[in-house]
Amino acid sequence: MRLLVAGGAGFIGSTFVARRLAASADSIVVLDKLTYAGSRENLAEIEADANLGPRLRFVQGDICDADIVGSLLAEADAVVNFAAETHVDRSIAAADDFLRTGVTGVHVLLEAVRRAAEARPDAAPRLVQVSTDEVYGTIESGAADEDAPLRPRSPYAAAKAAGDLLCLAYHVTHGTDVVISRGANTYGPRQHPEKLVPLFITNALEGEPLPLYGDGRQRRDWLFVDDHADAIALLLDRAAPGGVYNVTGGDERINRDVADVILAATGRSADLLRSVADRPGHDRRYAMTGDRLAALGWQSRVTFADGMAHTVAWYSANRAWWQRARGPGWADYYERLYGRRLAESTPA
Ligand code: NAD
Ligand code: TYD
Repeated sequence: MRLLVAGGAGFIGSTFVARRLAASADSIVVLDKLTYAGSRENLAEIEADANLGPRLRFVQGDICDADIVGSLLAEADAVVNFAAETHVDRSIAAADDFLRTGVTGVHVLLEAVRRAAEARPDAAPRLVQVSTDEVYGTIESGAADEDAPLRPRSPYAAAKAAGDLLCLAYHVTHGTDVVISRGANTYGPRQHPEKLVPLFITNALEGEPLPLYGDGRQRRDWLFVDDHADAIALLLDRAAPGGVYNVTGGDERINRDVADVILAATGRSADLLRSVADRPGHDRRYAMTGDRLAALGWQSRVTFADGMAHTVAWYSANRAWWQRARGPGWADYYERLYGRRLAESTPA
């Protein structure tokens, strides 16, 4: 297959590109805007590989740009869309880019896929839209299946839910071949250091405090990035058109436990853990059923213990990567989000 991978220079997208190229004879064009969260560096190892590199092409561009998307799609058999603004805390500060990429960008992709399907009905391209468990909102008990109501509670989750609904509407109205994956909280190498796991690992490595929101008893279902990428590859090949599939990690933990694992793995004292003011509208728990994807033969392979050990080792060995990923705006960002919180923090 000739794949167009939008957002392929980010965390999960670059992992997908590497694993898909290694596991198939596909060729891939990555379309990525290279926001603060994306980096060519994430594709460098693949580009340098004699077997994988020749089958990868990088194009810097925006999924909201209909001309670029249309011309790339004319030469693609399928699109996998990872492109999004992805950090809940940033969506609370300003949601504009989240809506632009999450709604307008997804619409541009859908229109391009629809036109390509009209132009070549016998080889209509498929769009896999990479979404999130956060569209279901907080799940106090039990677990959301794919038909559960969408109750997004952050601007990030609302933008993702809007993208999902547009995809499903195009499937019903235009017969567009769309598939939606809703993945759990993902962790692993090359995740931008603003997210919980890499933030806590990098802060611990530097001996800086770990800011735990609220009581730290919020629950997330943790999924290792290789497993997430492989689930998306399976859906690309095997999912039913118009299908929605949850991708679960199978390892639900409270944030406090995640912090403890990181402190132990980095050999740091529990004194680094600080209780700080909570995130507004903080979702208490995410949980999904995974039967639909399991019926396609998928199961997660990497345990939380193994995945975290690997992730901590990667951040320890790749200090230069995360120092560059923080970028020139990091100090301001950190001060805005955590300055006051840490000044008023208490031992956790
Ligand atoms: P990320 O922030 O690491 O990567 C996003 C990538 O998209 C970056 O490379 C960025 O440059 C690119 N991008 C952003 N706006 C763009 C635009 N308008 N045009 C082209 N490229 C653009 O994110 P991630 O963690 O790899 O997440 C990838 C996808 O998976 C997202 O859609 C996210 O909602 C979803 N997801 C993430 C998680 C998680 O825990 N990280 C869990 C479930 C689902
Ligand atoms: P995050 O990695 O931002 O993912 P999401 O909010 O999309 O689930 O956060 C994971 C959990 O960790 C969430 O409950 C918020 C919490 N958290 C903290 O306690 N402190 C932090 O500094 C961050 C970034 C997150």
